Order: sequence, then structure tokens, then C-alpha cells
Amino acid sequence: MNSEEKTPVGVIGVGWVGLVTAACFAELGHPVIARDVVQEKVDALSRGEITIHEPGLAELLERNRDRLTFTTDMDELLNGARLLFVCVDTPPTYSGDADLSRVRSVVEDLSADGDHVLIMKSTVPAGTGASIRRELPGLAYVSCPEFLKEGTAVEDFMHPDRVVVGSEPEDSAAAEEVADLYRPLGGEFVMTDTSSAEMIKLASNAYLATRISFINEIANVCEEVGADVSEVARGMGLDERIGPHFLRPGIGFGGSCFPKDVNALKLLAGNSGYHFQLLNSVIEVNELQKRRVVSKLTKHLGPLVGKRIALLGLAFKPDTDDMREASSLVLSARLRGEGAEVVAYDPVAMSNARSLLPGVEMSDTAQEALAGSDAAVLVTEWSEFKEIDWTEAADRMRRPLLIDGRNFLDAGQLRSAGFLYEGIGKAGTGDESG
Ligand code: UDX
Repeated sequence: MNSEEKTPVGVIGVGWVGLVTAACFAELGHPVIARDVVQEKVDALSRGEITIHEPGLAELLERNRDRLTFTTDMDELLNGARLLFVCVDTPPTYSGDADLSRVRSVVEDLSADGDHVLIMKSTVPAGTGASIRRELPGLAYVSCPEFLKEGTAVEDFMHPDRVVVGSEPEDSAAAEEVADLYRPLGGEFVMTDTSSAEMIKLASNAYLATRISFINEIANVCEEVGADVSEVARGMGLDERIGPHFLRPGIGFGGSCFPKDVNALKLLAGNSGYHFQLLNSVIEVNELQKRRVVSKLTKHLGPLVGKRIALLGLAFKPDTDDMREASSLVLSARLRGEGAEVVAYDPVAMSNARSLLPGVEMSDTAQEALAGSDAAVLVTEWSEFKEIDWTEAADRMRRPLLIDGRNFLDAGQLRSAGFLYEGIGKAGTGDESG
């Protein structure tokens, strides 16, 4: 089948989700027309330039340039495609609710048109789809929430675990059309109503965040009782009902989804008259976890005034330059609040980080950040940190102390290099060295 025979796909909002969606549908052979309100972004993408860091994405965009059109013109989009994926941001408002203003402005732009299918990828509170549907009676509405992970988004798109498609009964034909777009990719299909589809997204992210806060608390108890959280997580994960994923302790979850969606679900429940008690703890544990590193440093170094602390990694996780809700933001602010000098290195997030971390010295390499430091904290598990020459680093540091916030490095290797190494949830590690 050539690209002319495949259904054209429209994308509204070419941020990270929109760009991945556009590139992947183009790769599947669909002509794609993507619209954004930011002229410079549209111009850059039309010239083949890409500004976000997502493995494999640049190659897909390059390979499918003839199938991709970027525009700011809503009419061009509406004329070019019936199926419209809405991929605009729904960032948290000051109160923590989802800010639906960009979704609202898309709905306003569309209100005159009756022939299109609006497919909501943006994360919205349960009930949003049903109310948009009432506002735009001539238009079909399908909820198709996004489950892509940053860093593996292209892979996730091409091999979904499940595709959730929600609609009201009158839009079931449109829902089938949307499902058909995804059928070549395999995975399970969940055909359901709009509100349930919206809840699946929020509940999935809240549950995953809950698992992380749970294992972080288990890690903290392990430190007290002399157990090793990696062994505990391995033993737990072998129970099929539990499973091995998302049991990695660390210094808290971040990113554009978990913190926002946990809070949004808590507020959605509250606004609907239900107090979601568990999620308060998930959020609180996550905040405390980011700060625990500071007490670990103090345990070894005493007061941090004037101490030089190197942060390895700044992005909220590896393989992305995304700094949204990154643990490094809270950690560096706490360290500076204690009077420490903070120096940092990240393989790709430095330019995003610079304006967010005023007063933090940025280094060009990990070794440069480590040189002269009293301690290092591994914040983000970038694979290149495994390649650091730790013997050289130990020589260059004022004191070879490393707090591994992701249990990522080889403790034995670090200790042989002369480091005092402490991970998360590993009893006794703090008192051993060399
Ligand atoms: C998440 C969801 O996984 C994805 O389905 C949704 O579409 C968007 O939100 P993402 O934010 O890209 O994806 O990152 P993810 O890989 O899920 O990690 C989120 C955070 O949790 C990171 O800060 C990561 O370091 C942390 N994490 C993850 C842990 O601390 N422990 C774990 O075991 C797993």
C-alpha cells in the first residue's frame, strides 16, 4: 500500500507527544499534517530541524519528510485530515489541577466544523471528553490516552502493551477507525467509554508512582534493619502478582507525567467529593526521598557550608533532556540552602538545566565536575557514568565519597577505586570504604 492510500492523520500540538505521534504515523505510511501555534517551531521542523532529545526520532522525521507537513494554519489541517490527534500540554495550574486552556482553545477553533474526529491524547481529568462531546455535537470524540515513556517513546509507540480507545456509543464507528490506525502495531485493545479511558491513564500513572514511593519506603526501612532493597525487590518481583517492574528505589520520581497526574487524580477525586488518602502519602514520600540524600551527605561530611558537591545527571531520567520535576532541582536547591557549592554535569540536559539552576556551576565533563569536590551524588543513571575512570576521579576529588541515588554503579568497583560508596536501601554501605 503506498502512502496515498493510507488515511491522512492530523496532529494538533507538536510538543514531545505530538512530534512522536506525527513521526511514527508517517513511518507507518500515513500522510501526516501537524499544526502548532508556535511559528518558529513549525519553521524549524519544516526545515528538518528537531530540538528535543528522543532516541530514534530525528531519524524517523528525516526518513519520512515527504509524508510530513508542519503548519500553523488550522484550516490547512482541517482540510488535510479528518482524524485529528490532540497532543497539547495540560500542565498543572498553580493549584495542581490540569490546565485545560490549550485543550479549550483547540475546541474553540474546531467548533464550527462538523466532520472531524477529535482524538484526545492529552491527559485530561475523567469527564472532560463527555463534556467536550456535549459542546461539539457534530463532531466525533475519541479518547486515546498516551502511555509513551520518554527515552523509549518511538519503541513504545511501535510496540504498545495496550491501546486504550474510549468513546460514547454514538462515536463507536470513529473509535473503530482510531483502533484501525493502531492495529498494525499489535498489543491489546481496550475499547471502552470515554471517562473510563481517561481514568485508565490517570490510574496507571498514579499506580506506578505508588509503586515507586512504596519501594522507596521499603528501601528506607532496609537501611534501618540491615537488609538490601535490591534483594528484597528481586524476591518480591518474582511473585507473578507483583512482577519485577517499577521496583527500583531512588531519589524520587519526576518528569512531566507522574507528579502532575498523581496530583491531578488526587484533586479530581477531591473535587468529586472523595478524599484519596493514599495519594497524599505517595506525593509526600516522593518529596522526602529527594531530601534524604542531604542527610546522607551530612552524615559523612558534617555541615555542608562551603562543601563542594558534584551532581552527576540532572534530567529526570536518562536518555532525555527533560528537566520537568527532576529530582536534581529540589536536591540542588536544598544543598545550596545548606550553604554547599553545587557543580553539575549532564550529558544532554545542560542547556535546559542552566536557566533552572541559577548558582549551580555547570561542567563540560563528569571528571571536571568531580575534580575538587567533597562528594558526588549520582542523580540520573546515564550509561556513560559507568564508563567513568573512578580511580582517576578518586584522585581528583577532595574526598572520594559517592552517594548513588539510583543504585546504578558497581559498589565493589567504586570501593576498589578508593571510594566511600553509599547507595539507597543498602544497609551498612555508608560505613565501608576502600
Ligand atoms: C511515564 C509513564 O511511564 C508513561 O506511561 C506515561 O505516558 C508518562 O509518564 P516517563 O515520565 O517518561 O513515563 O518516565 P518513566 O520511565 O515512567 O519514569 C518516571 C520517573 O520514575 C523517573 O523519574 C524515574 O527515574 C522514576 N522511576 C521509575 C523510579 O524511581 N523507579 C522505578 O522503578 C521506575
